[in-house]
Amino acid sequence: MSEVHVSLGERSYSIDIGSGNLGRLGEKIAKIAPQVSGVFVVSNQTVFDLYGATVLRSLNAAQLPRCSHFLIPDGEAHKSWETLYGILSAMLEAKLDRKAVLVALGGGVVGDIAGMAASLYQRGIDFVQVPTTLLAQVDSSVGGKVAVNHPLGKNMLGAFYQPRAVLIDTDTLRSLPAREVSAGLAEVAKYGLIGDLEFIAWLERNTEKLRALDSAALVHAVEVSCNAKAKIVAGDEREQGNRAVLNFGHTFAHAIEAGLGYGAWLHGEAVGAGMIAATKLSRRYGSVSDADVRRVQNLVGALGSPTHMPALGARKYWDLMALDKKNESGKTTFILLEKLGQAKVAKGVPFKDVEALLP
Ligand code: NAD
Ligand code: GLY
Repeated sequence: MSEVHVSLGERSYSIDIGSGNLGRLGEKIAKIAPQVSGVFVVSNQTVFDLYGATVLRSLNAAQLPRCSHFLIPDGEAHKSWETLYGILSAMLEAKLDRKAVLVALGGGVVGDIAGMAASLYQRGIDFVQVPTTLLAQVDSSVGGKVAVNHPLGKNMLGAFYQPRAVLIDTDTLRSLPAREVSAGLAEVAKYGLIGDLEFIAWLERNTEKLRALDSAALVHAVEVSCNAKAKIVAGDEREQGNRAVLNFGHTFAHAIEAGLGYGAWLHGEAVGAGMIAATKLSRRYGSVSDADVRRVQNLVGALGSPTHMPALGARKYWDLMALDKKNESGKTTFILLEKLGQAKVAKGVPFKDVEALLP
């Protein structure tokens, strides 16, 4: 078991990583919120069928008061204003007060929407992230970005609202479909590509173990990823500058997801192909070599994500990219590689430089 600290002054918290952590949720809440008046678990049926009983047992063993749960429908399509309203209504019906603690038990969809509900309920109550997908364990549960989608754009309605704790039980990854594992591994690779050359080499040596869910390899990958994210978030909580590098590959990825329709490709899969495109764009500007492009392509492919973007047409891609939240005053922003293992923000990249990369 290991602990990563997210250093944000009075909003600091720990990320506990290890096997069997679900059973420790009750004692964790008792520790961080000794005055807790009720615990409200938000999950979906898929995850709750697998892990709900363990979680409720842990809450009851810690003798926490008034534990209840609420399940939302599974899938990105339900990360919506309507589902959020349903969660908030259930919280009101459960008569939760400001000392209640919300638990987000699930992948990034549950974490993002439940965190959003915690931020809004009576102007904000404590919440704990209990991420059960690899993507959520290495990315979405850490850093306090909470959101729902709007039909006009992904994650367009959101807030920065930090959890009080993140509890990662790596055993939950055993029930994850292989495709979801690969999607999470693409986000893991991101931390190497944007900031850690040594981690890239470690990933290259351990792709097979990771895809086979080898415990030690997974724990190491989650730890390195959480450490990297914690450091970046601590330096720029509200994405005024360097936090944007966490969006490496995402300008392409968000356009793929929106262009194909949400859910056709998993977010992590789109990030995998998007990181290759962003590396090719960096190559165009001369900051990385052809060999670097091949290395990124091989790594993403070996981890199980697609290596080519789907054909949508360059103009359609560009129109979708115009909606990216990183853009300022109509200028399209990309995260590029200064060199392999070091990312930088590039503002105002023109269409002509990207066009040839867009199928
Ligand atoms: P997800 O939450 O849809 O989970 C993927 C699927 O796996 C779902 O069907 C889910 O029910 C199932 N599942 C979850 N845990 C499981 C388990 N242990 N065993 C078996 N099945 C399990 O998808 P995701 O990839 O976890 O998250 C994607 C979401 O995260 C997107 O909405 C994206 O925008 C968001 N995101 C947010 C941030 C952030 O910083 N807040 C960062 C990255 C992604
Ligand atoms: N997933 C990007 C971020 O948290 O900033």
